[in-house]
Amino acid sequence: MALITKAIKGTQDVLPSFSHENRFIEESMLDIASKYGYSEMRTPVFEHTELFQRGVGGTTDVVQKEMYTFEDKSGRSITLRPEGTAGAMRAFLEHGLFNEPLPQKVCYITSCYRYEKPQAGRLREFHQFGVECLGTPSPAADAEIIALADEIFSFLDIENLELQINSIGCPECRKDYHKALYEYFSGHKGELCETCLERLEKNPMRILDCKSPVCSEIAKNAPVVTDFLCDECRTHFESVKKYLDAMEIRYTVNPTIVRGLDYYTRTVFEFVSNEIGAQGTVCGGGRYDGLAEELGGQHVPSLGFAIGLERLLLLMHAQETDFPEQMKCNIFIASMGDDAYIAAAKAANDLRLSGIFAQFDVAGRSLKAQMKYAGKIGAEFTAVIGEDELKNGRINVKEMATGDTTEMSLENFAEEFSERIMNDTKSALKDLFSSDGEGLNINNLFDGLF
Ligand code: HAM
Repeated sequence: MALITKAIKGTQDVLPSFSHENRFIEESMLDIASKYGYSEMRTPVFEHTELFQRGVGGTTDVVQKEMYTFEDKSGRSITLRPEGTAGAMRAFLEHGLFNEPLPQKVCYITSCYRYEKPQAGRLREFHQFGVECLGTPSPAADAEIIALADEIFSFLDIENLELQINSIGCPECRKDYHKALYEYFSGHKGELCETCLERLEKNPMRILDCKSPVCSEIAKNAPVVTDFLCDECRTHFESVKKYLDAMEIRYTVNPTIVRGLDYYTRTVFEFVSNEIGAQGTVCGGGRYDGLAEELGGQHVPSLGFAIGLERLLLLMHAQETDFPEQMKCNIFIASMGDDAYIAAAKAANDLRLSGIFAQFDVAGRSLKAQMKYAGKIGAEFTAVIGEDELKNGRINVKEMATGDTTEMSLENFAEEFSERIMNDTKSALKDLFSSDGEGLNINNLFDGLF
């Protein structure tokens, strides 16, 4: 039988030696979001297809070309979520969260599925960290959410990421804009792709984010939405900018940003890098005041953003970001003989219950092979239990970096070893604080410790 070793095109494995990077960025994002009042929400990986058709929009690339849609065994049309916003809004409406204090602030880390042409930074299964602020029309909320994304990128030390913002207005002021786009693109009917010809009739704004090179070239000279904003939308956008200025968040206004999903209204924004190739948008978001009504609910003005985790990691690797190291094994307890093996298992268990990262041999290896393994996994200390140690109740603990050994009691091993680790940590801290204190901050504090 052939060995199956190929993952599906456009999907990625996160191997154990890299998973700490994902964990670091995910935990950082969740922690930062919680300071802004966001709590995690988890929704199913698949939903009724109609949710995305109505929410994301029938004329978008995502719905027309990219969804993983199938019939389940009872004939229902099901779709793997292409993004997180529609599901979050569905859950908000279904569970009556509009009765809770508003806005409801939710965040999530989810896998998403889009049948796109895979390339660097573009996958068919990818992951997003997203936030949704549900139930506020205030421009202050727009600025707050942008500030949250901005803080995440600063915390992760990302450089040269440009924040671009725009307003794409409301359905009212968009009527004139659609007319202008219709007129403009009608002059290029012979060149537009088939999908865009259809879009021209149904929703000409969607032509602006068509991925075909010909259509995107034509789109470059199309009328821009900011010239068509109604007074209310214009005032809203001006307020958002004022808040951002007050918060000292740098941005550029890019009137060509329209975003690829239909639910957006008013503020839209992207954080863009030019260091990771064509797929440089690391974060995209905006306001979607009409989504709840589109799904059959009441008026729930809302907004949010999502950061693509694979793109973010691509950028962090390109910028050679230092990730915190993976947790190191504190001690490996080797053993010789059946009784010693059981003593090693017990010692490792006691150590773990005291909060120590301990390993013992679970593969039935010779002593020599056990020590080799301890070296490979980078154990900080090793100890060997044999007949003598069992007889005397004493055990030698060797610090691998220095070769120094310390004798400890086998009976109180967990306690004595934990104390040793604690003392080492204390003296590392003391060294750090007794330095001249210059530049002492939480980052070099951790660097000094681990
Ligand atoms: P989006 O712009 O479609 O927006 O996706 C957000 C981010 O997900 C992108 O900026 C990118 O980093 C990442 N992404 C999108 N497609 C792919 C792909 N094929 N491969 C890898 N990464 C990808 C949304 O999804 C909205 N739901 C964001 C939002 C939340 N708006 C309001 N609330």
